[in-house]
Amino acid sequence: MKGISYSRFGGSEVLEYGDLPEPKLSQNAVIVRMKAAAINPADIALQAGLGESMMETWFPVVPGWDLAGIVERVGAGVTEFQPGDEVVAYTHQEILHSGTYAELASVPVERLWRKPRNASWSEAAGLPLAGLTAYRAVIDTLRVSDADTVLVLGASGGVGSMATQLAVASGATVIGSASGPHQAYVTSIGAEPVLYGDGIVERVRNHAPNGVTAIMDCAGHGALAKAMAAAAPGARLCSIADGGPGVTTVFARPDTKILARLVDLVEAGSLRVTVAASFALADAADAQEALKARTYGPGKIILVPAAA
Ligand SMILES: NC(=O)c1ccc[n+]([C@@H]2O[C@H](COP(=O)([O-])OP(=O)(O)OC[C@H]3O[C@@H](n4cnc5c(N)ncnc54)[C@H](OP(=O)(O)O)[C@@H]3O)[C@@H](O)[C@H]2O)c1
Repeated sequence: MKGISYSRFGGSEVLEYGDLPEPKLSQNAVIVRMKAAAINPADIALQAGLGESMMETWFPVVPGWDLAGIVERVGAGVTEFQPGDEVVAYTHQEILHSGTYAELASVPVERLWRKPRNASWSEAAGLPLAGLTAYRAVIDTLRVSDADTVLVLGASGGVGSMATQLAVASGATVIGSASGPHQAYVTSIGAEPVLYGDGIVERVRNHAPNGVTAIMDCAGHGALAKAMAAAAPGARLCSIADGGPGVTTVFARPDTKILARLVDLVEAGSLRVTVAASFALADAADAQEALKARTYGPGKIILVPAAA
């Protein structure tokens, strides 16, 4: 099979496109033919060696944890899926070795759910990691309700766009920060847009004079510290990218119950995945650079295999 791999830590220059051994099929896994795979900042961080203190790395590494595709083969113990099923997966593994930037991936059955019927392959591939993170943060951690005014930092990003929509669907009033070119997008997903950067507190206070009751930081880079003074007394603070006193930090976790809920929300029209750009699998290095530069608009950067 064709795929992307790296054999040393580094930036996008370490990525190589070529022939790779096909993944093996264990009893409780399925082999999925990848139709689309999302690029995530975690791929780039792990590739740079930033996960070394937390997880083993077995070179060569196929990066990537997000996938939409078609089940090709099922393990001897799998009754839940069959060849031909259209699925999505957050394939997170504890050892960095076999990911989703490849034509085939072996996925443990507890990482899979069916693909939303109304989503394209690219939209579906962008759902698992970002959606699971946003759901854990907005629904399970902040427990956002219609009594809240929520500030989402990074509302135009892969996770932030979903966090915004989940908060809107929960009935909250949502203020979302983004760069100038992405303000209209933030409006389109149901939030009141504000520019990030210096002066954000005043801009948020224009929309919420008494302060916001919750802040969901999906941006990192100190954005939460800059916006903190826009919080009302007792506001709940959550981040996926920064820590600090009183801040609950949330990490993506594989969870098929939540993945199923996300698929239902997409099918109900309450959540949509925005695709910023699609790149050929062979051009994964360009795709990673695009994610870093964020020049392609809001939402997710996606890889697609060469047409058969
Ligand atoms: N804890 C976890 O499990 C987990 C899971 C996923 C991601 N993350 C982390 O969360 C962050 C976002 O991930 P993502 O996939 O959503 O990334 P992304 O798609 O690149 O989105 C980044 C967001 O941050 C905004 N932003 C960029 N620079 C900013 C600045 N200086 N101040 C304020 N906002 C800024 C961007 O706005 P514009 O595009 O409008 O400039 C965009 O909305 C990354 O740090 C990632 O590593 C953590």
